[in-house]
Amino acid sequence: MAQSTGYNKIGAAVFISGRGSNLKSLIKFSKTKKSPISIEFIVSNNFKAKGLNYSRIYKIKKKVLNFKEKNLSESKLLYVLKQNNIRIICLAGFMKILSKNFIKKFNGKILNIHPSLLPKYKGLNTHKRALLNKEKYSGCTVHFVNSRLDSGKIILQKRVRISKSETETSLAKKILVQEHKIYPKAILKVFNL
Ligand code: GRF
Repeated sequence: MAQSTGYNKIGAAVFISGRGSNLKSLIKFSKTKKSPISIEFIVSNNFKAKGLNYSRIYKIKKKVLNFKEKNLSESKLLYVLKQNNIRIICLAGFMKILSKNFIKKFNGKILNIHPSLLPKYKGLNTHKRALLNKEKYSGCTVHFVNSRLDSGKIILQKRVRISKSETETSLAKKILVQEHKIYPKAILKVFNL
């Protein structure tokens, strides 16, 4: 991926659908000197996403589109992202599947974070499934997005141990702490930093 130099950071957008804790950790990271990206845009398919508050708190532009007519929402989005010189997209709890066409337009420039050790447990309810299968470990993965769900090239993973008394809630919490650490690290890795 293109290098960023000095204050000339690469414009990034973060796509969310809910709480936005990864968004917050990415914003904090993007404000550090070592970050190659600057978060210029927040996108949500959900008008009620709690994470949209970070748009106001950190004065970052936002765009909310319902994605009911996916093609229309995506073409509006492509326009707005281009206008704002967005060159990298970080999906962070974004619950819509982007079309092949959209992904092609941002070829190799869309990242996602997933709460499992991919290729295990693609899709939803990852913690529940890991516990049901009596896994000893789970974790989180940052990967590139391709047209198949949670299947793009893996950038970084972090493993956590599942304890005997683990519950879905405790596991989710434990993994989320690691998510907030590996997403920034994965971005540095993508930029060879
Ligand atoms: C995270 O667990 C992420 O891995 C998954 O959705 C959750 C989003 O959490 N894709 P948040 O909105 O970043 O707090």
